[in-house]
Amino acid sequence: MPPERLRLASGLGVGYGESVMATTVLVGAQWGDEGKGKIIDVLTEQADVVVRYQGGNNAGHTVEVGDQKYVLHLIPSGILHPGKISVIGNGVVVDPAALLAEILHLRERGVSIDGNLYVSETAHLVFPYHRLLDEIREEQKGKRKIGTTKRGIGPAYADKVARTGLRTVDLLSPQRFSEKLRRKIRENNEIFKAFGAKPLNFAKINREYLECARQLRPFITDTVTLLNRAVRDGRNILFEGAQGTLLDIDFGTYPFVTSSNATAGGACIGTGIPPNKVDRVVGVMKAYTTRVGEGPFPTELLDDQGLLLRETGREFGATTGRPRRCGWFDAVATRYSVMVNGIDELAVTKLDVLDNSPKIKVCVAYKDGDRIYETVPNDIDVFKRCTPVYQEFEGWLSPTKPAQDFDQLPKRARIYLQKLAQLSGAKLSLVSVGPRREETIFLQA
Ligand code: GDP
Ligand code: IMO
Ligand code: MG
Repeated sequence: MPPERLRLASGLGVGYGESVMATTVLVGAQWGDEGKGKIIDVLTEQADVVVRYQGGNNAGHTVEVGDQKYVLHLIPSGILHPGKISVIGNGVVVDPAALLAEILHLRERGVSIDGNLYVSETAHLVFPYHRLLDEIREEQKGKRKIGTTKRGIGPAYADKVARTGLRTVDLLSPQRFSEKLRRKIRENNEIFKAFGAKPLNFAKINREYLECARQLRPFITDTVTLLNRAVRDGRNILFEGAQGTLLDIDFGTYPFVTSSNATAGGACIGTGIPPNKVDRVVGVMKAYTTRVGEGPFPTELLDDQGLLLRETGREFGATTGRPRRCGWFDAVATRYSVMVNGIDELAVTKLDVLDNSPKIKVCVAYKDGDRIYETVPNDIDVFKRCTPVYQEFEGWLSPTKPAQDFDQLPKRARIYLQKLAQLSGAKLSLVSVGPRREETIFLQA
């Protein structure tokens, strides 16, 4: 990294509000829903361009501005800042009807979307057969289901890798699009027949997609060139990760994962910005842990304490409304996240949710029989058996929301945060004590 970029990247705290960001990748360091949307929104102040690099409308990123609450699924959370550019990168899978609905909904609420949103022409498309396949596969799995969002994300990425997918650029050539779609529907209807499901109607889907194409045309462009020009011109780029590290297709708790690379490496693949242009990685993590869907979760609390976290933290899925599983902070998982993402700085969210807890636990290792694990086991059956080794902290039992800077936080809260950073192995840069923009504390570098 050239020295001037290093200098630019030096800390969230010192330069907040000034243009000091350079290129920053923001990733979820746990199992998703860490509060990425809120932190992206806050950091967009320093950014010129915000780009989503993976996932699809399985994501639900919540941003609260004043008394308004927005939940973004495909559009980057930076869209709420006028004058900034939002990009849906090539690594995202796009359901055109969902994207259009999101655009129209935001416009209705007075958010300007014209000339500030671009969609990659090489992003793959999600179709009704992907959603139906997602549903059928989950049903077939029965008790072994993943607990997907049923948005068709897995099957859409599968088509991309199988080289049989359609991309947004195909929407721009209606005749070619229709030919490809006809073949895909014919092929998938054979599969549906085998499962006893109703076949899909090509003419209806074709009509709907071509109408979406007409409306989305102005947004579809060569974002790889657009983004690289922005980097060349010294613009500050913020990469918005979706899902979280432990849901990453390669580094997560496979097969209980999503189908894309949510980790920092995915930022380059999903945008076309090369690795040597990335200046820093920020990892977002809650002060405790949540997970939606199935899969191992060693610190999960199945008792009243878990219910209390869910109620206090309002832990219900932003996309599916499902109750989130809640548990104590898992430092084994976050340490692993720091390693695979190269996280430089940590943003810890939802500290306020722990304000009324007399005791707070942190998992510092896993135990399986006599064996202690200090990193995440790759064998899913071992992971499922692991129980947490806890370190206990005294709660601070006072409100954290009023704190304007780190020193104003209760002493025990500061000790807790410093411990989370130390156990995770990265520098604490930001603390969030509420869903709103102003409920954010920036630490001095
Ligand atoms: P994302 O998917 O990572 O963007 O996270 P979600 O939006 O799905 O879930 C995070 C939830 O926590 C949202 O409802 C946010 O409004 C909320 N939130 C974010 N930061 C804080 C915080 O510091 N305190 C509290 N109480 N809520 C927060
Ligand atoms: P954000 O960006 C939390 C989970 C699903 C399921 C698994 C696979 O808001 O953090 P999928 O539909 O992707 O095939 O489901 O991944 N999952 C999420 N969990 N937050 C998300 O996104 C998620 N996106 C997918 O619950 O367990
Ligand atoms: Mg979410």
